[in-house]
Amino acid sequence: MNRKYRKTIIAGNWKMNKLPSEARSFVDELRSLLPKTKTCDTALCVPYPIIPNVARAIKDSRISFGAQDVSLHDSGAYTGEVNAAMLTDLGCRYCIVGHSERRQYHGETDSEVNTKVHNLLNVGIIPIICVGESLEQREKELTLEYIDYQVKAALAGVEPKEVKRCVIAYEPIWAIGTGKTATAEQAEEVCCAIRAVIRGMFDARVARSVSILYGGSMNAKNCDELLAQPDIDGGLIGGASLKAPDFARIVAGTAQE
Ligand code: 13P
Repeated sequence: MNRKYRKTIIAGNWKMNKLPSEARSFVDELRSLLPKTKTCDTALCVPYPIIPNVARAIKDSRISFGAQDVSLHDSGAYTGEVNAAMLTDLGCRYCIVGHSERRQYHGETDSEVNTKVHNLLNVGIIPIICVGESLEQREKELTLEYIDYQVKAALAGVEPKEVKRCVIAYEPIWAIGTGKTATAEQAEEVCCAIRAVIRGMFDARVARSVSILYGGSMNAKNCDELLAQPDIDGGLIGGASLKAPDFARIVAGTAQE
């Protein structure tokens, strides 16, 4: 973490878990467990129908909330879609884009990720842009090349002052939901490389102000070592964000200097 130049963020990605009626008790428990002083931005990215419930439950707390995807389109005849204006109207601060599960199961392309990033920035929502290599790419030593490509594609055409508002989440696909976390060294290497890509596309000032998160089996036990890395500015948490004590422990992990 480097608090001097950028925000530390712990964001939960609930994926397709929990019911709207379960939001209140989860948030109440989380609020009671969170450290008293704020050491990071704490956010919950939840399924669309749960957003209003979380929004009500977190009122007057320092937890923020967001969505997990957004439509490519502004409005119109797109049955089943949810646009960026709707998310901003609900009060979302963040929206995840390009999660590997959307890329894998819904065929989301890098160009679509880029369109979604623009759509979100246009309405003032912070995109949490997910990038990450497959196990095969890592084994073939293609990780840094692929990450370079994904980051450039996601940020194409974004103004430098808008890039500063973006968040990148490095989520190696082989570490998601597998219990197989990247080592702190592996995660730091890629997060540092992501910052170098942004420096190359823009400049050092822009690069140092972008928060870069790690995601992939991050939990209450391994968070401290990951968060101690200089280029890891927080976490995007799947499974461990569904349990309030575990999520609160990860938030507490950002208290370290
Ligand atoms: P897990 O923490 O369950 O591995 O999920 C990570 C993730 O995909 C967050 O977006």
